[in-house]
Amino acid sequence: MIEEKIYEFKNHGDYRGELVALEYPKDLPFPVKRIYYIYNVPENITRGFHSHNELQQILICLGGSVKIKLKTPEDEKIVLLDNPNKGLFVDKMIWREMFEFSENATLLVLASMEYDENDYIRNYDDYEKSYWEKKNK
Ligand code: TYD
Repeated sequence: MIEEKIYEFKNHGDYRGELVALEYPKDLPFPVKRIYYIYNVPENITRGFHSHNELQQILICLGGSVKIKLKTPEDEKIVLLDNPNKGLFVDKMIWREMFEFSENATLLVLASMEYDENDYIRNYDDYEKSYWEKKNK
């Protein structure tokens, strides 16, 4: 089973607007080594199609909405992100796809490691093999 771990962040907003602050270890499960964001995604585009050997991430949709498919050979979940107050934890060895970006969507990603192409598994068959190997170890 894929555990759907959604962090509901504390909002410090008041009549002047909203403010969310994220700090490790109070609010986040790992110290953030890297952030990146995805925006201006055209209609009908799906991104991702990979897993990671070690990387853990938290996905936050800062504006608009996006759907995230989390997949293993045993389970599949689709999560709608449409609230900047919420963060979806995506663990290592989970296959992910991001799709149905709304026109104004901005997806912020907090990552536990620096960018390392060697940590990626981009081929689904390789991912499946590696998943069972790790699970049966
Ligand atoms: P890509 O992995 O294709 O994005 P997605 O996961 O959304 O499918 O990344 C697009 C490009 O950006 C690719 O050339 C690698 C580069 N990139 C970095 O240089 N640093 C990063 O932290 C990330 C996530 C990507």
